[in-house]
Amino acid sequence: MTAVDVVVMAAGKGTRMKSRLPKVLHRLGGKPLIGHVVDTAWQLQARGLVVITGHGAAEVESAVAHMATAAQQAAPAFVRQEPQLGTGHAVQQAVPALPDDGVALILNGDVPLVQPQTLQRLLERCDGKRLALLSVTMPDPTGYGRIVRTGDAVQSIVEHKDASEAQRAIREVYTGFMAVPSALLKRWLARLTNDNAQGEYYLTDIVKLAVADGEEVVALAIDDQVQVDGVNSPVQLAELERAYQLRRARALMEQGVRIADPARFDVRGELACAGDVEIDVNCVFEGRVSLGEGVRIGANCVIANARIAAGAVIHPFTHIDGESAGVEVGEGALVGPFARLRPGAQLGAEVHIGNFVEVKNSTLARGAKANHLAYLGDATVGERVNYGAGSITANYDGANKHRTVIEADVHVGSNSVLVAPVTLGAGGTVGAGSVITKDTQPGALSVARGRQAGIADWQRPKKKPK
Ligand code: UD1
Ligand code: MG
Repeated sequence: MTAVDVVVMAAGKGTRMKSRLPKVLHRLGGKPLIGHVVDTAWQLQARGLVVITGHGAAEVESAVAHMATAAQQAAPAFVRQEPQLGTGHAVQQAVPALPDDGVALILNGDVPLVQPQTLQRLLERCDGKRLALLSVTMPDPTGYGRIVRTGDAVQSIVEHKDASEAQRAIREVYTGFMAVPSALLKRWLARLTNDNAQGEYYLTDIVKLAVADGEEVVALAIDDQVQVDGVNSPVQLAELERAYQLRRARALMEQGVRIADPARFDVRGELACAGDVEIDVNCVFEGRVSLGEGVRIGANCVIANARIAAGAVIHPFTHIDGESAGVEVGEGALVGPFARLRPGAQLGAEVHIGNFVEVKNSTLARGAKANHLAYLGDATVGERVNYGAGSITANYDGANKHRTVIEADVHVGSNSVLVAPVTLGAGGTVGAGSVITKDTQPGALSVARGRQAGIADWQRPKKKPK
């Protein structure tokens, strides 16, 4: 098969977004629009990738270069189009980056949801020798270029602003995607003019040039409009986001995941689910998250970069973010409601983390419990430890972080402060309200607070008479 060189058009301003951020860097499903497009290009195993930038060029180029590094892909070639004189003018800038022996596959940086299979079919229609256009039939084609045919044969694309009343009645439109042999493309690009309603060099004019040259033109019609919907405004971005999330939810449900309401479900990254997973309403998953067999996620949880093992239950309103260090939740663990797990939290099997408990960079062994209003930072917690309500590891001295080690079977009484570095010996008990600054002995009761005193018949102060 002929080598494919992908061209992504991303120079346009996106005026209707009314944003300082270049349009193609707005996010859908947590990923910049152009990230979806280049990911699709990479899945096609194209030979080359050229990105045409203009508005916000430096920002767009650095974002795409970072994506390439993260995806372990070769950095794309960038060409700049300044000023922007139309889509034909844009592709003219890419000509030096397109070898004559390939097929150019033209994509739009602001049309994120096209599927690789669709583009593969378009490339097959092109077959290294003819101009292949992707088209769709729309109920309301206003604003789009119309596909003008004589019988079945495609004659031209007429832009909305240049179209006659009769042409405006055509509902088959050009989607902005085409596959074309590069040698032919270059020949036609050189002949574009800008004598049209918008005074622009239209890429779509190559169709009539192809017909004039007696070259074959085909249109591949698809009926799934979401794949070719572009983003021009915040409203369209939100609509496409919902369409995208619905697709992700559907795919998970087809796999057996029970999602309480697919309209209140968001994935911004990768979510892998084993069997019998249940997800209640309003949950957001970010980065890489995996949910083991039978995991249940309560309503209103935000979960990022975490692995949650089989049978664990995350109760409502829990916030988990592993960032780069990750979070692990062991088998059968119970977390929340209102819990917060931060980077490096590693909970073993059957661990319980209750309401208003924060865990950061800490390991909790099997069966350890911290059920109420507590902080565990830089701690190593043994099996079956019971960490009392309101207890705190004082892990930071203002300059450095220190570890707290709580050995197996320790009971830490409520409202204790463990001043790190410190080790609590196995099986020991800490009296409530203690401030522990020294290691404690295994099996001992350690109390570090003022003794209770009692003064009998205590007279409370009284107000002086005026
Ligand atoms: C274009 C097509 C139209 C099609 C529609 C589908 C042309 C002339 N018209 O119209 O037939 O129905 O897409 O969405 O091609 N861009 C540049 N440089 C420019 C102008 C545009 O890079 O000078 C980029 C934009 O950033 C965008 C893409 O090209 O990614 C399409 O441009 P846009 O202005 O949206 O074209 P439309 O008028 O919508
Ligand atoms: Mg457009």
